[in-house]
Amino acid sequence: MFETLKALNPDPILGLMAAYRHDGNPRKVDLGVGVYKDEAGHTPIMASVLRADAVHRATETSKTYVGPTGDAEFNREIQALIFGIAHPALTADRVRTVQAPGGCGALRVAAELINRARPGAAMWVSDPTWANHVPLLGDAGLEIKIYPYYDAARQGLKVDAMLSALDQIKAGDLVLLHGCCHNPCGVDLNEAQWDAVAALAAKRGFTPFVDLAYLGLGLGLEQDVYGVRKLAASVPELIVASSCSKNFGLYRERVGALSIVSPTVAEAEVVHGQVQNVARGIYSMPPNYGAALVGRILGDPALRQEWDRELTEMRDRINALRADLAKKFSALLGNSRFDFIPQQRGMFSFLGLNKNQVQRLKTEYGIYMVDSSRINVAGINKKNIDYFCEAVCAIL
Ligand code: LMR
Repeated sequence: MFETLKALNPDPILGLMAAYRHDGNPRKVDLGVGVYKDEAGHTPIMASVLRADAVHRATETSKTYVGPTGDAEFNREIQALIFGIAHPALTADRVRTVQAPGGCGALRVAAELINRARPGAAMWVSDPTWANHVPLLGDAGLEIKIYPYYDAARQGLKVDAMLSALDQIKAGDLVLLHGCCHNPCGVDLNEAQWDAVAALAAKRGFTPFVDLAYLGLGLGLEQDVYGVRKLAASVPELIVASSCSKNFGLYRERVGALSIVSPTVAEAEVVHGQVQNVARGIYSMPPNYGAALVGRILGDPALRQEWDRELTEMRDRINALRADLAKKFSALLGNSRFDFIPQQRGMFSFLGLNKNQVQRLKTEYGIYMVDSSRINVAGINKKNIDYFCEAVCAIL
């Protein structure tokens, strides 16, 4: 049967992990897949997670099924973290959150739900967007359309082009927005730009869909949800797919959530039932372990404080590396070519290299990044920063 299928190339992002592992170059540098790394180049288990794990193991008494909505404490805490407990959408009981297997699971469940409600609905995504958005949303049956976003010449936002494109979108279409730390370009909307997008969503009647995979890694926990909260206050309907992979370091445990704001409590209830039914038909119910830890951390003041401190350390380290990179490049090149790096947020930035240059960095220097020249800034450290910057300057 499967002889009809063709061999595929490795995934453009995940494939880099295997290629890096097999590279024997002792100076190799991994700036590929988006995982946080500390100064030693290690992706650690957070101390707050280890502490929550100890409590969890000591107190968990059963491994029986939880159900398609997942861990109730996790859902409550994530909802409060994203929207803030006093948000009018929450106090009006118009938000329903279900746990999902990672942010990817949340994106896919949402896409299946949208396709049930409006088969083949148009989903507008930024140019560029995370490569996996296209299969996650498109394979559910949605039609992927593109709005302008990144200005490669200025390494910033094509704000006018973006806003005028959004001003043409028709009611019933959906617009995918990166809540913070845009993947892959690192260019985020400022508050005024979020306000403008929210006003357009209200005016045009399109449904915003926010992917919030990097909450807390941009400017801070509160600042990073400005856009989500603004949208939730401006439009009757909003979809949010969130992830705990990066901000809790729980990548392989697959911890995510889907939150949907509905116009009325009655509609929220219908949506909640439909979401559970979609989940049941794909994976039945999400894994519990990672979500149980997140629920415990967010629900316990001491653990939460520790987690917040660790997250702040991660964010500060990334932002400091951004500044260091710009300084090193400027000293080496004698120009401001890479001065944009500290203006961007989260793990990623484009270096603005072509495929051939990216390939040379890989084969000649053992430096791995996505073909688009997206780097994971967190992969830089004191030991490799000079080697990396010098290599980039050498191939320019
Ligand atoms: C990335 O963009 O590198 C991460 O989100 C990991 C992934 O699954 O692609």
